[in-house]
Amino acid sequence: MPGVRLYENKDKPYVQKVCLENAGKGIINADYRKFILTMFCNYYIECEPENCFVATDDNDIAIGYTICAKNFDAYIKRFMKEYFPDIPAKYKAGAVAEIFAHAIFRKKYPAHLHIDISDKFQRRGLGHKLIDALTEALKEYDVHSVMLVVGSGNEQGRNFYKKYGFSEIANLSAGIAMGIKF
Ligand SMILES: CC(C)(COP(=O)(O)OP(=O)(O)OC[C@H]1O[C@@H](n2cnc3c(N)ncnc32)[C@H](O)[C@@H]1OP(=O)(O)O)[C@@H](O)C(=O)NCCC(=O)NCCS
Repeated sequence: MPGVRLYENKDKPYVQKVCLENAGKGIINADYRKFILTMFCNYYIECEPENCFVATDDNDIAIGYTICAKNFDAYIKRFMKEYFPDIPAKYKAGAVAEIFAHAIFRKKYPAHLHIDISDKFQRRGLGHKLIDALTEALKEYDVHSVMLVVGSGNEQGRNFYKKYGFSEIANLSAGIAMGIKF
C-alpha cells in the first residue's frame, strides 16, 4: 500500500528522479537538470530533512515528496552561500525571481514547500497525506503557516492547493503565491 513517511538518505535518488520528471518532462539538458535539482530539491533534503516527507510504493521506494524550508531567513543565508553559486548562469535570473516570490512573504509565511508525485500515483490522496505530515511536523517547530509558488498555468497544482485549503496570496511573474495557516 502506498504510504507516507519521513525522508531518509536512501530516498535521495528517487526524490531527485521525481523532481526532474515533473519539472522537465523530457528535457535532458545538463544545465537545466542542475538548475532544477539545485533550486527545487537538494537544499531541502540535504539541509532540512526533518521537514521532508516521501510517499512510497509497495516496495518503500519514494514516488513522491513534499520538501520544505521552515524559516526563509535561515534558508536564504545558506542557500545563497552553498547552492546558488552552482546554478548555471543562464538560470540565475529565474532563480532570483523564484527566491523573490518567497522573500516578500517571509514574515507572514516563513516556511515554503515544494511537492511532486509521479504521474502514476497522482490523485490517490497522497498529496493530501504529504501536506498533512508536513504541517504536523511544522507545528512541532512552532511554525503555523506555509506557502509555495505554483506556475500560473498549472491548473492541477492550483486545484490541489485550493482543495487542501490554501489561498492565493499574490499573482507574481514567477507564478501564483499560495499560502495556508494552521
Ligand atoms: C499536485 C499534486 C502534488 C497533487 O497530489 P495528488 O496526490 O495528485 O493529489 P490528491 O490526490 O491528494 O488530491 C486530489 C486533488 O488534487 C487536484 N488534482 C490532482 N490531480 C489533478 C489533475 N490531474 N487535474 C486537476 N486536478 C487535479 C484536484 O483538486 C483533486 O481533487 P479531485 O480528484 O476531487 O478533483 C500532484 O498531482 C503532482 O505532483 N502534480 C504534478 C506536479 C505539480 O504540479 N506539483 C506542484 C508544483 S507547485
